Formats: sequence, C-alpha cells, structure tokens
Amino acid sequence: MSGKHFDRAAAGWDQQQSRVELAARIADGISSTLPLHKNMTALEYGCGTGLVGLTLAPKLAQLTAVDTSSGMLEVLARKIKEEKIANVTPLRLDLLQESLTERFDLIFCAMTLHHIKEAVQLLARFCDLLKGGGYLAVADLQAEDGSFHDAGADGIMHHGFHSEDLVKTVKGLGLHEVSAKEVHAIIKTSDTGVERPYPVFLLTGRK
Ligand SMILES: C[S@@+](CC[C@H](N)C(=O)[O-])C[C@H]1O[C@@H](n2cnc3c(N)ncnc32)[C@H](O)[C@@H]1O
Repeated sequence: MSGKHFDRAAAGWDQQQSRVELAARIADGISSTLPLHKNMTALEYGCGTGLVGLTLAPKLAQLTAVDTSSGMLEVLARKIKEEKIANVTPLRLDLLQESLTERFDLIFCAMTLHHIKEAVQLLARFCDLLKGGGYLAVADLQAEDGSFHDAGADGIMHHGFHSEDLVKTVKGLGLHEVSAKEVHAIIKTSDTGVERPYPVFLLTGRK
C-alpha cells in the first residue's frame, strides 16, 4: 500500500474493530513482556493513528510517534489535542532516508515491517537508535501465503515473516534476550465462507 493509501484510509482507520482489537493485543503483549516505566523515552515506528502508542504512552515518559503518512499523523495529532495528551509527539519521518540524533529506551513497531522492503536495514536502524539496555518490540504477521491482503493491494513487501528467522536476524544485529511469541490471530473469512487465522507474533529483544 502506498503512502497515499494510508492517507486515504486514515479517517476511517479506527472504525474497524479488528484493528482496534489487534492493537490492544499488541500493546498488552508489549506491556506484559517488557518492564515499561515512567522514565522511559520511546519511539514508535509506523504509528498510524496511535492505536498501540496511545495505549502505552501513560506508562512512559515520552513517546515520539513516527509515520510517513501525513493523513495518519493528522488523526493522531487530533486525538492528542482532544485528549490533552502531553507526552506524545507525532513526527513525519522515513528512517531509511533520515535519522534522529536522540536515542531511546524503547522502540516498538506494530504491523509496519511487512510494508518495508528493506526490513533488515530498518531493524538495524532501530538497533542503532536504542540506548544500551534499551528494548525493541516488533509485532507483525507470521509468514502467510499472500492471501491476507486483498488482491492488488500495493506496498505489501513481505507476506509476513518467519518469526524464528527474524529472531536470528535481530540476534545477529547484536541484541540479546531475543524471543518471539504469538500475541493474536486475525480471523478472516474467505469468499467460500471458510474462516482462517493469521497469527501475529511479537518479537522482543534488548540492546
Ligand atoms: C498497517 S498500518 C499499522 C498502523 C499502526 N501501527 C497500528 O497498529 O494500527 C502500517 C503503518 O505503517 C506506515 N508506514 C508504511 N510505510 C512506512 C515507512 N516506510 N516508514 C514509516 N511508516 C510507514 C503507514 O503509513 C501506516 O500507518
């Protein structure tokens, strides 16, 4: 899906209950796996409308919420204003093109990695941006056969990932305490009425 697709989808993004539920499961998975605390500075990459980030922000000192879609960031900015949230800063940035000077105690990325062709390069960038002892959390689709997204959807760079391969990749990038577990399964119904689960993993590690 192109950036324009996400711009167009932004206004109705939170209306789809399955997305809200998935984000809640991912946020729960991060909270129950990592020792979040109120002194932590965090970066969320591919924050969308903030479904995951705004759930975790009350447990953190500061969250920089990054996305490349201005439409998504506008929805997030509206929520921040309406809900008077003081510790979340939306930022339009492509980390593969530009970097940040700040380093973070936590970086998380939910359902975004499969949109990034240079996924390993992005994971390496996350590792660079972590402080020593900082935590990484990446949630995405377990490898699937390409049936998850609608036919013709653009911007789908990976049909999910084998989480055990990503664990090896992230260990190779120098993180330790790396593991992955299933946090949710998205249920989709085929044209013939057959229900099928698409598991979502949460990978975590520490610099
Ligand atoms: C499937 S949505 C997930 C949004 C949010 N994390 C959630 O769970 O609701 C993917 C998000 O990644 C963003 N995105 C796509 N390509 C990106 C890139 N190269 N850099 C940063 N964000 C990107 C999209 O704009 C979109 O907001």
